[in-house]
Amino acid sequence: MVNHHHDVPFRVLKKVSTFTAPGGLHANTTDNRIIHGDNLEALKSLPPEFEGQVKCIYIDPPYNKGNEGWVYNDAVNDPKMKRWLGQVVGKEGEDLSRHDKWLCMMYPRLKLLHRLLSDDGAIFISIDDNEVHNLRAVLNEIFGPGNFVVNMIWQKMDSPSSNFGERAFSNYHDHTLVFAKKLSACRLKQLPKPEILKDYPEVAEDGRRCRTRQLRKNGKEARREDRETMWYPMEAPDGSEIWPRHPEEGWDGRWAIGKKAYEKLKNADKVVWKMRDHGWVPYQVEWAPNEPAIPNPSILTDAGQNRQAKALLNDMLGTDHGFDTPKPVGLIERILRIASDPDSIVVDSFAGSGTTGHAVLKLNAEDRGRRRFILIETEDYAESITAKRVRTAITGYGSGEGIVDGLGGGFDYYSFGVEVGRQSPQAKRARPFTTAVCSHALVNQGLNRDATLNWLRPVHRPSQGFCDRQRPGAGAPHHGMPRKLQRKAAASMLRSVAS
Ligand SMILES: C[S@@+](CC[C@H](N)C(=O)[O-])C[C@H]1O[C@@H](n2cnc3c(N)ncnc32)[C@H](O)[C@@H]1O
Repeated sequence: MVNHHHDVPFRVLKKVSTFTAPGGLHANTTDNRIIHGDNLEALKSLPPEFEGQVKCIYIDPPYNKGNEGWVYNDAVNDPKMKRWLGQVVGKEGEDLSRHDKWLCMMYPRLKLLHRLLSDDGAIFISIDDNEVHNLRAVLNEIFGPGNFVVNMIWQKMDSPSSNFGERAFSNYHDHTLVFAKKLSACRLKQLPKPEILKDYPEVAEDGRRCRTRQLRKNGKEARREDRETMWYPMEAPDGSEIWPRHPEEGWDGRWAIGKKAYEKLKNADKVVWKMRDHGWVPYQVEWAPNEPAIPNPSILTDAGQNRQAKALLNDMLGTDHGFDTPKPVGLIERILRIASDPDSIVVDSFAGSGTTGHAVLKLNAEDRGRRRFILIETEDYAESITAKRVRTAITGYGSGEGIVDGLGGGFDYYSFGVEVGRQSPQAKRARPFTTAVCSHALVNQGLNRDATLNWLRPVHRPSQGFCDRQRPGAGAPHHGMPRKLQRKAAASMLRSVAS
């Protein structure tokens, strides 16, 4: 039942419009997509060129709080799920299947997102306490528990909402569950921290910053008799033997490390010698990192809050847009800094007000990146809010002192064209054609035929013996139509699809 993405029809995506920044703005990416439609169908209908190519996915699905009015709309043949169809999911205690519905909605979408991720990619999912435990379980199943990275806590507010009644706690945070496609291949980035360079006060002859520590033991138990094995000579740069003696008092001391450890340090370029009044002195050296950074804290307190996210959307779209749940650009920008490279593809299949598109363009403008985004939004406001917000970010907004420069860039806006590969008897009979149409449509876009067929595989199962499941180059298709004819038929269907 949860694998119903296998039964999702393939629908051709139709380009409706293209928006590009007016001249004179930042050079930013234009090969971006905003798709209006249900993400299950949209993800399925993405060309196979994206399979295994997406470096970073951020999603912010309905939290299933019981007051969002989200509707279960996956038309699955199972009788129980048919009963759910079109129903608004109710509150806790009123709708006993509300968690089942949410999971049945999420599972197939996560399966498709998992296929899109590259081996070194990662998914970040915003969620709150209503479903975090279920989401974690489902991600464990799809991604594997070994690919869990972190549950990042994001501070979404800093004062209780005015309507707090007698509640003992006010919930100031959301969760962000992070899973890698393949943890061993995933290189998430640390938090840049240039300030740590001041902990490396010395500059070596070659200009590298470093800090050093004497190799002769100081303080307690620093005498030869305290560790006889650490009394041995080291070779100074002029070839002379240096023993660990106290420089002023002359007594035999010892080194802080044994001979083996010293050899290892020397081979790793981590010993420097300095000429002092009393002769050569060896030091252990720690070089400053090339890119000073620390591990990201798992609690984000400085990535913007809900209040600022709403204020920004009001600034960009005016106050009557009616969209209540935008995330701050800072939160998604932080995620992109951790999980994307300058040329990554970023996907957000619950796009809402388009914050992810805004964050991608903003980060590109900051680091001259070429990141691209694919946003999917099912509601009718995909144009009037999602696309409009991204257009506003591209062109700039505000006036007077509050003017904000445009980020440049552009995107193509898509909606669904005809549906192919449906379950009706006619559609079933037509499926050899429809498969051919899909694959020709994609192959004609210059895409690899095997990749195309592989991407379409779950729509048209091999057991059903459709003509396009044949090995490339094999003879006549299963249903007996010669391949040449099949191509011709597909080409003519494609023309009608495109027109
Ligand atoms: C919480 S909002 C996302 C907000 C977004 N992160 C932002 O910053 O604006 C969730 C969005 O997912 C959309 N959505 C829900 N189900 C969807 C589906 N099946 N396909 C595509 N979008 C969906 C909703 O319409 C809503 O706009």
